[in-house]
Amino acid sequence: MLKMPQVLLILCLAGATHALYKQWIPDTNYENKTNWDKGDVPCGSDRVQFSSQRKVSVFVETTHAVQEMMLPMDGEIILNSGAGFYVFSGQDPGCGAGVRTKFKDSESLHWYNPALWQAAATLNDLQDGHFLFSVHEESVPCQQDDVIFKALSSFRVDTTSSQTTIPVKSVSVLGKVVGILLAVTVGTLSTMNGSAVQ
Ligand SMILES: *[C@@H]1O[C@H](CO)[C@@H](O)[C@H](O)[C@H]1NC(C)=O
Ligand SMILES: *[C@@H]1O[C@H](CO)[C@@H](O)[C@H](O)[C@H]1NC(C)=O
Repeated sequence: MLKMPQVLLILCLAGATHALYKQWIPDTNYENKTNWDKGDVPCGSDRVQFSSQRKVSVFVETTHAVQEMMLPMDGEIILNSGAGFYVFSGQDPGCGAGVRTKFKDSESLHWYNPALWQAAATLNDLQDGHFLFSVHEESVPCQQDDVIFKALSSFRVDTTSSQTTIPVKSVSVLGKVVGILLAVTVGTLSTMNGSAVQ
């Protein structure tokens, strides 16, 4: 049976004339409630926990109140300009009794998972949410495609595969090209404002 990268290579070669914009869907943003095990962004009565065993990369866009925060041993919290945390003493009236909430593990999100990409014919279509519904496997970027990561977001992308390099045309953060890469070899893509791709 063909492995995923091999299937993709065949699909990429077959459709080589159609260059598309492909956007990575998941983010590791603090403000995205899907990243929390309780399904909500923590508020002032909550106790926030990052897994101590995992390397996390979390973008924080605004200021948040917390009751307590347990930080990871290894990782980065990327603060937007003006963003931050403060400790709320007592119960936050808008938050209820408070819960212990955990930031979810995002390490298993793989580059070759077609469900994690959305495709559009133009950059405008991508920004306006006019996505193409194509054959599932074609959602993963091919070498002629422009890869887009949302601005003001952090990401973790698992790029381990049998291939040593992943060919794409370019990698951008919402329109700003941060690097023309013939090979994406990163294990972690942590991006804030277009100036930092590691
Ligand atoms: C939050 O994350 C989910 C799942 O990764 C994603 O589908 C959604 O677009 C994100 N929300 C925002 C506002 O970006
Ligand atoms: C982008 O990030 C870099 C490094 O984190 C910082 O030096 C720079 O001021 C930021 N630019 C903007 C426009 O926020």
